[in-house]
Amino acid sequence: MSFAALRDNQGIIMVNDSDKYPRIRKAVAADVEAAHKILNFFAEQGLLLPRSLSELYDHLRDYFVLEMDQGEIIQGICGLGICWSDLAEIESLAISDEQQGKGFGRKLVDACLGEARFLGINRVFTLTYVPDFFLKRGFREVDKAVLPQKIWADCLKCPKFPNCDETALMLDLKEPAF
Ligand SMILES: CC(C)(COP(=O)(O)OP(=O)(O)OC[C@H]1O[C@@H](n2cnc3c(N)ncnc32)[C@H](O)[C@@H]1OP(=O)(O)O)[C@@H](O)C(=O)NCCC(=O)NCCS
Repeated sequence: MSFAALRDNQGIIMVNDSDKYPRIRKAVAADVEAAHKILNFFAEQGLLLPRSLSELYDHLRDYFVLEMDQGEIIQGICGLGICWSDLAEIESLAISDEQQGKGFGRKLVDACLGEARFLGINRVFTLTYVPDFFLKRGFREVDKAVLPQKIWADCLKCPKFPNCDETALMLDLKEPAF
């Protein structure tokens, strides 16, 4: 899993040397409204935590997005939130309905994992309703109790709190396959 953050000719940070479309790149402010629509479309189905525009702007630097063609609105998003010295969270992963099943979800997660490694963070967890997707990426199910209290601040905003029915999964990037 290699990771290189390069800038295109407009100064936008893209992943690896992908100047070809579709591409994965870091989010910019102009992506936020589209990201908000994608995330909240799935949040209304109970698949994700809803995100406000304010939260997305606050954490803009956490996000990678999927851009299908130059100048088109983004079709996918995923964030890497840093929790502690050796712990980060994959959050707000969503691919628009029409682009699902083409490997883009995997690429967005790989971009987040690559950034975690670049930052020297070896443990990455997620809370999800699609554990099988993450199990295929090498994540392993863990007891939610092993996650630090700090992360539960976000859960207070969840309509399901305190009856969380998401699965917690963790990936150790130091393991040989990664
Ligand atoms: C879950 C989601 C992000 C997957 O993205 P995607 O681009 O469709 O997935 P990919 O094409 O990259 O699939 C990668 C692998 O995961 C598998 N996969 C995809 N979606 C899956 C799911 N819901 N459950 C189990 N496995 C899944 C694929 O079959 C593929 O397997 P393979 O490597 O053996 O071929 C996407 O379906 C989505 O946005 N869903 C709605 C929002 C959501 O549920 N987000 C997850 C919250 S954590």
